[in-house]
Order: sequence, then C-alpha cells, then structure tokens
Amino acid sequence: MKTAVITGTTSGVGLETAKGINAAGNTVVMLNRNPEKAEKVKSEMPEPSHVECIHCDLADLQSVKKAADQVKAKYTGIDILINNAGGIIPQKQMTKDGFELTFQMNQLSHLVLTYELIPLLAKGKEPRIITLSSEAHRAAKPDFDDLECENGYASFTTYANAKLFNLYFARQLSKELKHLGISANALHPGVVNTGFGDDYTGVIGFFIKLLKPFLIGPKKGAQTSLHLALHDEGYEKSGLYFKNKKVTKPHKIAYNDSFEKRLKEESIKRIQQILKYDPTENVPDA
Ligand SMILES: NC(=O)c1ccc[n+]([C@@H]2O[C@H](COP(=O)([O-])OP(=O)(O)OC[C@H]3O[C@@H](n4cnc5c(N)ncnc54)[C@H](OP(=O)(O)O)[C@@H]3O)[C@@H](O)[C@H]2O)c1
Repeated sequence: MKTAVITGTTSGVGLETAKGINAAGNTVVMLNRNPEKAEKVKSEMPEPSHVECIHCDLADLQSVKKAADQVKAKYTGIDILINNAGGIIPQKQMTKDGFELTFQMNQLSHLVLTYELIPLLAKGKEPRIITLSSEAHRAAKPDFDDLECENGYASFTTYANAKLFNLYFARQLSKELKHLGISANALHPGVVNTGFGDDYTGVIGFFIKLLKPFLIGPKKGAQTSLHLALHDEGYEKSGLYFKNKKVTKPHKIAYNDSFEKRLKEESIKRIQQILKYDPTENVPDA
C-alpha cells in the first residue's frame, strides 16, 4: 500500500485521481480548502477507505505550512505527491499574503508544500512528485517584474504563466531531488469538463458553459495523473511533461534556464516575506 498526498480533490481531475489511487488500494491524504466538501468526498469512498482530510487553503501560505506539518506529524514517509489544485481567476484577486491569487495557488503554495514534504518523500518507495500543468503554458508571456499584475491583468495570460511555472517547477525538482531518488514530472490532463472556468460570468461564462459538454470527462482527465502516480514510468522518468500518458514536448519557452532561475528567486523572496524562512533549504543530503 502506498501513501499519496493530493491537493484539490473536491472536484474534477483531483477527485477522480484520488478515487483512482484509493481504488488501487492506497492511502490518500486529501488537502482541501473546504472541509465540508472534502468530508463528503471521503464519505463516498468505499470502506475501508484509508482516506484522510487535511485543511489546506492554497491562498494562504500559513495554512499550507500547517497542512504540511499535519502530514509530517502523522506519516513517516509518503510515496506520491500530486500538486493538482489550480485554476483560472476571471478578475484579479490578491491573497491575504499580498500576492496575485493565480500565481500563489498554482505556484507559490505548491512550492511550500512540496519542499516541506521532501523529507517524507525521501523515505517513500519509488517516490514521485506530479504537478498539473497545462497546454495553456504555450500562451505564456511571463513578466517577472510584474508577478502581481500591477500593470494590468489578463486572466488567461496569468493562468498560462502559472502553468508554465508548473513546468519550470517540475524540472527544477527533478534536478534538485535526483540524489534522493525522487522523480518529478508535469502533465496536461486534457481539456476536461470540470469546475475549471466556472467563475466566469457574461459572454465568456456563456461560451464556457456551451463548450463543456464537448470536453472529456474528469475520469478520462485523471488518466495521465493516475499513470504517473501508479505506473513505473512515473518513477523511472523525471523532469518531463506528459499528455495522454505519454512524454510530450512542451513549448520551447519551457526550456528557458534563466526564467526557471528567476522564478525560483522570485518565489522564495515572496515565501520568505510571509513564512520567514526559505523552504528550499529543507532538501536533505542523500
Ligand atoms: N479542466 C481542464 O481542462 C484543465 C486543463 C489543463 C490543466 N488543468 C489543471 O488541472 C488541475 C485540476 O483542475 P480541474 O480542471 O480539475 O478544476 P476544478 O474542478 O475546478 O478543481 C480544482 C480543485 O482545486 C481546488 N482549489 C481551488 N482553489 C483552491 C485553494 N485556494 N486552496 C485549495 N484548493 C483549491 C478546488 O477546491 P474547491 O472545491 O474548494 O473550489 C478543487 O478541488 C488544475 O491545476 C488545472 O490548472 C485543467
């Protein structure tokens, strides 16, 4: 039996991923911001479910740190971490930490969670980190001098940037964690009929609703996550981008080493402002 930690399991791809991992006989630790929704998901898992709910709001770095501490207090090792939660935010929103919400929920918070859990992953069996990116990364136009979008906010570009950052993050992890035998990959789940984009109103909201019935279902959308979580390839390969359960080539912008370095610096700077430490210093020696 393996132990998997996954963010955002109350709907969509995360829900079906949690169900699939659990159905394969594994323990699932679900990190969600809405306790009622999370408990409902847990109650619907077949008994004995081996499912645990931990509160984690990705818009609040202290909440993420607390969630990681709870995982560390209960488990000595974990085998799978899936940075799944994420989404697009129609109107610009700042978090209580003072960062643009899309950037914080998709990138900063998963960075904190991941680095906090590396010591546990290092004790896991064939440990792996899976991060949900998107084909939207191809539309990214990152401006590292304006990550809080003070010069204007375009929801899709901000989302595309965040999904590009997910690719940099997976690549960074694959390099930094090689000595610990931890793999790290990113993936695109498909264009899936989930809660994604549900916060749009007006014309865009109307068109999203119109399109949804033609998209793949969340069960199908979870297949690449499940492949990387449960099959050897998810451990044997690292630093790659997957789509339809296969390695795929990201846009060339995903190979920009100076962007990758700058992202890490900008992320750590912001995390240090709030948490007063650098989580990337937690990486143990082999
Ligand atoms: N759907 C697609 O076509 C598509 C395509 C490419 C990539 N993706 C990626 O796939 C991943 C899963 O998305 P999905 O399509 O399954 O969307 P979804 O149905 O909207 O699910 C998103 C999950 O993230 C959670 N979440 C949102 N904000 C959160 C926060 N502040 N703290 C903690 N959890 C939070 C949601 O919780 P609540 O229930 O509390 O809102 C929900 O469980 C995302 O990273 C997305 O970018 C999706």
